[in-house]
Amino acid sequence: MSVTQQQVLQALAGVRSPRGVALTNADVLSPITVSDGKVFLSINVDASEARAWESVRAQAETVVRALPGVASAMIALTAERKAGPTPPRPTRPGQGVPPAAAHRPPHSPAGSPMARQAEIPGIAAVIAVASGKGGVGKSTTALNLALGLRDLGLRVGLLDADIYGPSVPRLTGIREKPELNDERKMIPIERFGLAVMSIGFLVEEDTAMIWRGPMVMSAITQMLRDVAWGTLDVLVVDMPPGTGDAQLTLAQNVPLKGAIIISTPQDLSLIDARRGLAMFKKVNVPVLGIVENMSYFQCPHCGTRSDIFGHGGARHEAERLGVPFLGEIPLHMAIRTSSDAGTPVVVSEPDGPHAAIYRAIGAEVRDQLKGAIAAA
Ligand SMILES: Nc1ncnc2c1ncn2[C@@H]1O[C@H](COP(=O)(O)OP(=O)(O)O)[C@@H](O)[C@H]1O
Ligand SMILES: [Mg+2]
Repeated sequence: MSVTQQQVLQALAGVRSPRGVALTNADVLSPITVSDGKVFLSINVDASEARAWESVRAQAETVVRALPGVASAMIALTAERKAGPTPPRPTRPGQGVPPAAAHRPPHSPAGSPMARQAEIPGIAAVIAVASGKGGVGKSTTALNLALGLRDLGLRVGLLDADIYGPSVPRLTGIREKPELNDERKMIPIERFGLAVMSIGFLVEEDTAMIWRGPMVMSAITQMLRDVAWGTLDVLVVDMPPGTGDAQLTLAQNVPLKGAIIISTPQDLSLIDARRGLAMFKKVNVPVLGIVENMSYFQCPHCGTRSDIFGHGGARHEAERLGVPFLGEIPLHMAIRTSSDAGTPVVVSEPDGPHAAIYRAIGAEVRDQLKGAIAAA
């Protein structure tokens, strides 16, 4: 028999909060997700109280893990800052995801990037790599772009925030789990000279699938703030695909310096890319540009190029919408095979043509972020 939400609640009722009342009466719990014996929930408190709550979080995890039928339990502590905007926080289970727009009118002054949320100490610029839909090569591009930025001499981190399908563990071949430092912050895994963190290090992919908006936010907030990132010039965030509430909330709550939209040349993908642009515009995150992935087919044998998807659509779209066009990446066997083998092409063929393209895109991005990076 698998564990039920009710059993989890009963166990949590036995944990006392720093406010003196039972954890279940402290008005801090997110809805509880239980799937195949895997339990996830978050405790949402004010940042000023976070320290006092850490032991409660650990205790809660211990009692839930001790329940019969529990395979794993992840309880995230989400610390909100009073001065900042409040991420969605339904307190009753089953309440669902409130529309992100309800939390802050998109055009209020609080919607400006600066006011949105406290910067992350040590990180000069957080940028999002986004796409209107899955399967366009967002993760592949995010990772190779991060490596391109690394090649320019920058200190770079990669955060896989694609809760619906974290693929960075596969793309980087990372199998180990992050350890905690003395301050109980997770230490990112160092790979290819990047500081890497993925929701996939913590949960199975199938658990990730069923997370609802507020939990997505809570887990991502924790990965941004409760990870010992050290000093970074750029943190590249591989966003969940799409433009729904979860993505909008993320864009609103993560202190982004800019966003990069990945699209393929096909019309349908471009329509999705347009939605992505609109979403970032709504929350006043500057779009650094569009990348056309799988732009044209390059034969791995003879190098001949074929524009099988009618290449160039994203460039025209970028011109039409007045956002920078950052570059074209061919559909090439080497990009796929290297990714799937856990050694991205910028690492496996550093002197090859693909690595050069990713570095060129990286250089454009760096130039746009210069102000932020120089100020750090
Ligand atoms: N430029 C490319 N050339 C060849 N294969 C690619 C390219 N970009 C991505 N792929 C492959 O396409 C698939 C989807 O890419 P992925 O980065 O996982 O997409 P997303 O993150 O948008 O879902 C993967 O198998 C990846 O190796
Ligand atoms: Mg992906």
